[in-house]
Parts: sequence; C-alpha cells; structure tokens
Amino acid sequence: MALLEGEHLTKRFGGVVAVDDVSFSIDRGEAVGLIGPNGAGKSTLFRLITGVHSPTEGTVTLDGEVITGRKPYQICHRGLVKTHQIVKPLEGLTLLENATVGAEFGGRDPEHPEERAYEALEFVGLDHIAHDEPDELSVGALKRLEIARVLATDPEVLLLDEVAGGLDTEETEEIVDLIREIRDRGTTVFLIDHVMRALMSVSERVFVLDKGELIAEGTPEEIQNDEHVIEAYLGESAARDHAGTAAGD
Ligand SMILES: Nc1ncnc2c1ncn2[C@@H]1O[C@H](COP(=O)(O)OP(=O)(O)OP(=O)(O)O)[C@@H](O)[C@H]1O
Ligand SMILES: [Mg+2]
Repeated sequence: MALLEGEHLTKRFGGVVAVDDVSFSIDRGEAVGLIGPNGAGKSTLFRLITGVHSPTEGTVTLDGEVITGRKPYQICHRGLVKTHQIVKPLEGLTLLENATVGAEFGGRDPEHPEERAYEALEFVGLDHIAHDEPDELSVGALKRLEIARVLATDPEVLLLDEVAGGLDTEETEEIVDLIREIRDRGTTVFLIDHVMRALMSVSERVFVLDKGELIAEGTPEEIQNDEHVIEAYLGESAARDHAGTAAGD
C-alpha cells in the first residue's frame, strides 16, 4: 500500500493556479524526485502535503489516513516533515538548540530530544560545532543543519526542498551521500532539486511538474529521455548544470 498519496490536489492563489489537479503515490522506502521549471508549483505541492497551505481541492493521505487540513506540527507528529527551501536557523541559539527545537516540537518520540538532536548533528557532520551559533555557517553547513533539524524529529517521510541548491560540487556530493544514507535507513524521501545529477542519482522515480500540472512520471532514465520533459525543462537545466551555475536559493 502507498505510504503517501495525493489525490486531485489543486491550489489557487487568486487567479494563479499553482498546483493543478495533481495525483501521485509514493510507497514506503521509496526515494522520489520532483522536478520542473521555476514557478512550476513544486514547493507549493510540498506545502499542501505538510499542511502549510490547505489545498483548494483534493486530499493528502499518509499511511491510509487523510491528513488534509491538519496543521504542520500535527503532520510532523505523524512522521512527515519538510525542509525549508530558504534555510533560516534560529539566531541566538546554538546548532544543538536549533536541532533540539525540531526534536521537541515535531518528534514522534518526545523522549530525550537533546540526544536525538545531537545524533542528528553527528549524522550530518556538524557535531564538532554543536555549541556554536549558526550565524557564520557556510550555505552547505546551513543545509546540513536544516537536514539535522528535520531528522531530529525521527521522520518516516522526509520532504527535501532544494537541499543541494546553491552548493558547490563537493558540498553537493556530501548532501547526496547523506540523502542516500537516510533512504538506506528506511526513510521515505521525496525531494525537489534543480541539480539534476544529484536528484537523478538518488531517485528511483521522478515526477515532473510544469505550470502546476504533473506532465510526466518515470524512472530517471525514462524522464531524461522524455521529449516533453526535455522541452519543458531539462534542455534548459542541462545547460545550466553544464555551466556549473545550478539554480536554487
Ligand atoms: N503564498 C503565495 N501566494 C501567491 N502566489 C504564490 C504563493 N506561493 C506560490 N505562489 C505562486 O505559485 C506558483 C508556484 O510557486 P512555487 O514556489 O510552488 O514554485 P516552485 O516550482 O517551487 O519554483 P522554484 O523552482 O522557483 O522554487 C508561482 O507562480 C508563485 O508565484
Ligand atoms: Mg520552490
């Protein structure tokens, strides 16, 4: 049975249809990528899944239970959590305290939040600066802190919104290895990225959004050879990857 399902999800902002009748299904333990041009509705779809926005129409089901209309913290307690595309750690708190906020407020297991936060920092390789504040972290370290924050909630499903955006090649490799490890531990991963090398190498299946609509779905190989996808997105993105200036903020 599917672990996460969206049925006929639509989100309108005034006259803008950001997500247009999207249905999808993800099985337990899968790693699925979501790609599409800027403004395609990817982050909005993630916000519908995590309860940040209510859909105008449609439903989200997690492990057989309809979660549409629930608050993000309630959905997080059920084991589904998302990273933010634009990472903003809490200033004035240490890295450990930032990760502990995730563990305390969102966790499935309320026991020992600080221990789980520390383990998450160890996992992403930031434990040696656990007691520092995040104000001087590089973009790569900020992205890893964001991953630690959500991992500290002990998620069953992890939604990653452009965690490789803005990173150099080495930092991207590190993040890709982390995502692979998270998936190998059994966590279901749904990720958005414009960095195709990264996304295609960790995803078993890929969904493509264009102007709010799901235009294709398949293995990375199928998607990379799909003419509609190349026309709508990959042509432009391949050129960008090649130029070494992958987009994202
Ligand atoms: N809160 C909002 N209010 C009004 N319009 C919004 C809101 N959030 C998103 N939109 C609009 O919805 C559309 C989809 O935006 P979204 O951020 O989901 O795209 P995206 O695929 O994540 O793009 P990117 O790759 O640039 O991150 C855009 O036209 C955007 O301007
Ligand atoms: Mg986005």
